[in-house]
Amino acid sequence: MSDTIKILCIGDIVGKPGRRILKQALPMLQREHKINVTIANIENAAGGFGVTIKAYDELKDLDIQVFTSGNHIYDKRDIMTQFAQIPKVIRPLNFTEKSPGDGFKIITFNTFKIAVVNIIGRVFMNPTDCPFRAIQKHLEALRAITPIIIVDFHAETTSEKQAMGWFLDGKVSTVFGTHTHVATADERLLDQGTAYITDIGMTGAKDGILGMERGAIIEKFLTQLPAKFQASSSKKKMINGIIVTVDRSGKAVAIERLYYESESLA
Ligand SMILES: [Fe+2]
Ligand SMILES: [Fe+2]
Repeated sequence: MSDTIKILCIGDIVGKPGRRILKQALPMLQREHKINVTIANIENAAGGFGVTIKAYDELKDLDIQVFTSGNHIYDKRDIMTQFAQIPKVIRPLNFTEKSPGDGFKIITFNTFKIAVVNIIGRVFMNPTDCPFRAIQKHLEALRAITPIIIVDFHAETTSEKQAMGWFLDGKVSTVFGTHTHVATADERLLDQGTAYITDIGMTGAKDGILGMERGAIIEKFLTQLPAKFQASSSKKKMINGIIVTVDRSGKAVAIERLYYESESLA
């Protein structure tokens, strides 16, 4: 049995285009890259904002074990009372105790146990508890279960994300960023064996703006007036993510970016 595990992490799924390209291409990508476990950020899966049972149901039969999220998780408010129906979804750990959902999830693959944790940043974002203290508080208990810990840090600024990477270096297997919808080129192994990337990018329409229709967004910048945004219908769609290889001790031994695009869907 292999002594390493390959984990695919997929960036924010934006609306129907994101759901469609995943359904079309994920099984092939998982086969091609010999993926064992897949994690995807679902916060924008329903029309670009939040999650619905319908959007979740479309994705739940794919081979994805955990869906992380972020600031948009409760945008479709019905979901707040429906977490029992979306058992693979977690929300940021440093939300309040009253926030529906859990901040982490433990999954298994063969003899491996993997803890997936979601935290959210505070710089240029809504107020939350401190993400650094929140994860620190849980680290000992998580490490007692498994040394393989994968962290989705959903945050805006590169500095807060890099700080989290170094803060957790050697304590978790991977810190990957989400939320900006634009992938960064700084994937690396940090000194103590944590794989790190500031942002893994998004999954959905390639020619929109962060996955959304361009017109309303440009208009908003021009007029400063409120506008209604919807997922872009651009023909080109893309999947952005990373593949991390982690050994049994929890150390990451490799991190690479994954990019896939397709024009074959309407
Ligand atoms: Fe997002
Ligand atoms: Fe976000």
